Amino acid sequence: MSNPQFRWWQTGIVYQIYPRSFQDSNGDGVGDLPGIVSRLDYLVDLGVDAIWISPFYKSPMADFGYDVADYCDVDPIFGTLADFDHLLEEAHARGIKVIIDWVPNHTSSEHPWFLESRSSRDNPKRDWYIWRDAKPDGSRPNNWGSIFGGPAWEWDETTQQYYYHYFVKGQPDLNWANPEVVKAMTDVLRFWLQRGVDGFRMDVVYLLAKYPGMPDNPINPDATPLNENDIFGVQHHVYDSIQPEVHRYTRMFRQITDQYGDTVIVGEVWEDDLNEWIKFYGPEGDEIQLPFNFRLMQLKEWNAGVVSASVNEFEDALPEFAWPNYVIGNHDRTRPATRVGSQAQARIAQMLLLTVRGTPTMYQGDELGMEEAQIPREQWVDPWGINLGITRDGCRTPMQWDGSRYAGFSTVEPWLPVQADHTWRNVEAMSDDPHSFLSLVKRLIALRRVEPALHLGVYRRAGAPDGVFAYIREHDGRRFLIALNFTFEEKRVPLNGPGVVAISTHLDRADETAADTLTLRPDEGVVVLLG
Ligand code: NOJ
Repeated sequence: MSNPQFRWWQTGIVYQIYPRSFQDSNGDGVGDLPGIVSRLDYLVDLGVDAIWISPFYKSPMADFGYDVADYCDVDPIFGTLADFDHLLEEAHARGIKVIIDWVPNHTSSEHPWFLESRSSRDNPKRDWYIWRDAKPDGSRPNNWGSIFGGPAWEWDETTQQYYYHYFVKGQPDLNWANPEVVKAMTDVLRFWLQRGVDGFRMDVVYLLAKYPGMPDNPINPDATPLNENDIFGVQHHVYDSIQPEVHRYTRMFRQITDQYGDTVIVGEVWEDDLNEWIKFYGPEGDEIQLPFNFRLMQLKEWNAGVVSASVNEFEDALPEFAWPNYVIGNHDRTRPATRVGSQAQARIAQMLLLTVRGTPTMYQGDELGMEEAQIPREQWVDPWGINLGITRDGCRTPMQWDGSRYAGFSTVEPWLPVQADHTWRNVEAMSDDPHSFLSLVKRLIALRRVEPALHLGVYRRAGAPDGVFAYIREHDGRRFLIALNFTFEEKRVPLNGPGVVAISTHLDRADETAADTLTLRPDEGVVVLLG
C-alpha cells in the first residue's frame, strides 16, 4: 500500500488502543504494555497500519492517565520504559507505526513541577501554572467552569491563591506563556522521538493559549446544563477555548517533529466552526497533519442527508494541501454501534469510515460492533460521569477477545465490567464466522489496502435516491461506487453502466454483476467496481 506521493499516515489506518482495557498480561485487572505486545499479531491480521496508544505515563489516574505525573516514564500499572521500547520494536518489526499520546495542556497535580509550583509563591516554578488572586470579596478570579463540572479554579490554602484547571482539579493547566514550560514540554517530544515513536496524538492541543487577563465568559441564555454542577455548559466559550496564539505552538511542534523523519501529529481539536478548525492544518499545511475530524461522531442524527452533508461540506472546505481524516468512535464518546441505532447501521458506519477519502481512526472494539455498556451508576469511575452524569465508562470496558469469564482480557475481575455479550461478540468467535461484524471490517480493510482508489483516490459525489448516500472513489482509471442505504427500504441505485459488487455489508453478494442499476436491500451498503 505504498505510493511515494503519499505518506503512511495518509494511506494507512490508525487503530486506537486504550491501554487500560486492551489486554492485561499480569493479572491485575488493568491492561498493560506487554498485553499490547501479545496482541500485535491480531492487529496485523486486522490490517491496520498504526496504533495510537492513550496515555501510559506515570499518573495518579484522576482521569485515567490524562493526568500525567511524569511524561518520560511508564506507570507501573502499565509496565516499564523497557516494556515500551520492546513494544516499539515489536510493532516496527511487524510494520506497525506507533503514535503516542502527549498531554500538553495540563499535568497531574502530583507532577513534581506542580508540587514545586504550589509550595510557595516565590518558587521558580510558580509561574509554570496559572495562579491568580481571589477577587477582593474572596471569590474566584473569573466565572469559568471546568468542563468536568464545578468551577475551573481551586483554592490553595498554603499560598492563598487559586489555580486554574480546565479539567478536574487534579489536572492543573500549564502556563504555556512561560518559555520554560515550552522548553520542558517540547523536550518531552524529543525524548520520545529519539526513542523512535512515529508521532503524537496531542491531547486538547487547541486549549494551550489562554486569553490575556482571562475575563468572564458571557452566559449562554439558551444553554441546557447537564446538572447543577455544569457551570461550563451554560457559558459561551469566548475566552477559555481556541485563541489565535495557539497556532504559534502547533507550528513549533511541527517544526520539531519534522526533524525526526516520517512522523505525524494528530491533534485533538474540538471546534464546530469548520473554518476555525481548518486553521489547525496551518496556512501552508505547516501545523497539524491530522487535526481529528470528529464531525461524524457528533452528528445528532444518523441518516443519508446529515451524513452526506457532513462529508461533502468537509470535502468542499478542505484546502488542497489538507489531508482529510475521520473518527467515528473513541474513548470519550458513546460506542458508534449504539449511537447509530442498530448493528446493521453500525456496519454501514464502518463501510463509510473505511471507504471515504481520508485517514480512518478506529477505536478498539468497534471492529466487533461493541455496544455502549450499561454500567450501574454506583460502579462509575469516570470523573466526568460522576460529576455531570454522562459517563465515558460505557465505551471503555475491556476488549472482548474470547468467551471466557473475563473475555480473555484478564484472569481477574477487570477495572470495568466485561460486557455480557462477550460470550459471542468476541474476536475468537467472530473470526470463525464469515458473516460477522469483524469479518466485514477485515474484508473492508483488505479491499482498501489493495485498491489505491480506496486509500488514496479522489472523492466525488454520486447521484442516489433519498435515503442513500453514494460517492465515487477513483484512481488511475479504477472507479468504485460506494452506496450506503440508511433506510429500512429497498433502494435502486444508478450505476450508469455495468458494475461488479466487491463487497456488501451483508457479506453475501460479492462478484454479483449489475448493468446500469443495483438494488440495495434495507440497511445495506455496497462497494461496486464500475466499468
Ligand atoms: C481529551 C481526552 O481524550 C480525554 O479522555 C481526557 O479526559 C481529556 N482530554 C483531558 O486530558
